[in-house]
Amino acid sequence: MADISPAEEVEVKAESGRTTSLWHATVGDMTRTPLPGDARADVCVVGAGIAGLSTAYLLCRAGRHVIVLDDGPIGGGETGRTTAHLSDALDDRYARLERLHGGGGARQAAHSHRSAIDLIERIVVEEGIDCDFAWVDGYLFPPDAEGDTSSAHKELRAELEAAHRAGAPAEMAEAVPYAPFSGKQALHFSRQARFHPLRYLSGLAERFEALGGRIHTGTQVTSVTGGAPVRVETALGGTVLASACVVATNSPISDRVITHTKQAPYRTFAIAAQVPSGSVPDALYWEDADPYIYIRLQPGDGHDWLIVGGEDHKTGQKDDDVARLRRLEEWTRARFPMVERVDHAWSGQVLEPADGPAYIGANPDGSENVYIITGDSGHGMTHGTIGGMLITDLILGRTNPWASLYDPRRITLRASGELAKENLNVAVQYAAWVLPGDVASDEEVPAGEGRVVRRGARMIAVYRDPDGQVHERSAVCTHMGCVVNWNELEKSWDCPCHGSRFDPLGAVLNGPARKPLE
Ligand code: FES
Repeated sequence: MADISPAEEVEVKAESGRTTSLWHATVGDMTRTPLPGDARADVCVVGAGIAGLSTAYLLCRAGRHVIVLDDGPIGGGETGRTTAHLSDALDDRYARLERLHGGGGARQAAHSHRSAIDLIERIVVEEGIDCDFAWVDGYLFPPDAEGDTSSAHKELRAELEAAHRAGAPAEMAEAVPYAPFSGKQALHFSRQARFHPLRYLSGLAERFEALGGRIHTGTQVTSVTGGAPVRVETALGGTVLASACVVATNSPISDRVITHTKQAPYRTFAIAAQVPSGSVPDALYWEDADPYIYIRLQPGDGHDWLIVGGEDHKTGQKDDDVARLRRLEEWTRARFPMVERVDHAWSGQVLEPADGPAYIGANPDGSENVYIITGDSGHGMTHGTIGGMLITDLILGRTNPWASLYDPRRITLRASGELAKENLNVAVQYAAWVLPGDVASDEEVPAGEGRVVRRGARMIAVYRDPDGQVHERSAVCTHMGCVVNWNELEKSWDCPCHGSRFDPLGAVLNGPARKPLE
C-alpha cells in the first residue's frame, strides 16, 4: 500500500466560504450583467446550470424568446461541482428501476440517458464547443472485499441482464484496464463519455446568446407565481412576465412541500490530482461500495487530472466532512501511487428521488405554466439534458415518450417503503429542537467556525469570523423549521431536513429555502 499523506495535505481551496472545484479553477469569467429592470419573455428560466441552459438553448433554437436568471454566475451551483460522468450505467441500477417502474420505465430511462449523451455530443460538434468531450468506456465493479464472492457475481449478472432488457450497452468485462482493478469481475458499458462541464456550459451560453437569448447573473429570484403570464420577481426589484417559467435550481424554489417529501439531499465529495498523461487509462470507473466511489480522467496541461468522488452522506446529518475528504485521499493514494499531491478538493449536493429517476415536468402544486427540473440522482449532466429536451417538448406542445417516467406528480407505490424511511428520517431531525446546542456559549465557538447554541427555547446559529467577531442568526431553517447544522468544510449552515444551505451569515446557498436565516 502506498504511503498515506497526513491530513493537512488535502488542500481545500475555499472562496467566500465555499470550496472551489477543478472546473471553477480552469474556466474563464462566467458572469453576466444583472437584470436591469422589468422584462417580458416567452420563457423565463431560473437557474443557469446544465438543466436551465440546455432548456434555454433548445427553446431558443425553436424560436422562443428566453431569459435566464441566476443568483450566482453561470454554472455556479451544482454543475460546477459535479464530476461530470456522462453515463447510462445508472446509479439506480436497471434491476431496481425495472422493479419500481416496470420494463417500460427501465427502457425509457436507458433511452433518455443515451439520448442526452448523444445530444451533448451533437451540440459540442455542431456548435464547435471546446470542452474535452470524449467517448470512453465505463466499468462497474464490486469493492475489494466482495470482488470474488458469488453474491457479488450474482448481482453483477442480474444487473447485466436488466441492462440488456432496458437496451443499455453492457457486457461482462474481460478485464478492467487499470491494474489495481484488473482482477475484478466487472460490467463494461461502452459509449460513455466525459467532458469539462463548465467549458461546455460556457459554450452553450455563448451560442444561446448568439441566438438572441439573454442571461442575467447576480439576479436572485424571490418568487415565481404561476398564471398567464407567469410572474417572476427578483431581489433587485425587476420582474419578468413570461408565458412559461422553468425552475432549474437544483432544488426547486417554486414548490414548497411536495417534491421535497419525495427526494433526499446528500453531500458528495471529490478530489482532483495531477497524474502523468496516460498513466491511468481514460475511462469511467465505478466501485459499487458503500460508500460508492466514482473515478474519471480529465486532460490537463501536460498531465492528466485524476478525479475521484464518493463518501456521500445525508446533508446536514454528519459533522466529519473534512475527514471524509481525507479518507477519499487515502483510498486514492492506495490505488493510484503516482498521485503526489491533491490539488483540488470540494463537495457538492445530490438530490435522490426515493424511486430513482429525476422529477421533470409541471410544477407538482399545479402552478399554471410553471415547470421544474430536479432530482439529479447522481446523473446531473444527463438528467439536466433530459430536462432540457422534455421541458422543451412540453412547452412546445409536443408529446415526449419519457414524460410519465419523469412526471413530478408521479406516485410509485412500489417505492413506498423507501419513501416512508426518508420521511421518518426527516421527522427525526425535528428532535434537535429539544436537544442541547453544539456548545453552551458563544465563547466556545472557534474563529472561522460556527456552532448552534441554545438560549432557552431558541436555537442560535453562532458564527465567529476569522477576526474573532461573532455573528448570530436564528438556527431555524426558513423552509420548514428544522434546526441547521454547521458544515466545517464548506463553512455553511446545512439543513438536515430537505437540504437548504446558508452561508455563515445566513444568506441562501441552496434551496428549497428562499429566505435567509433570520
Ligand atoms: Fe426544509 Fe430546512 S430545507 S426545513
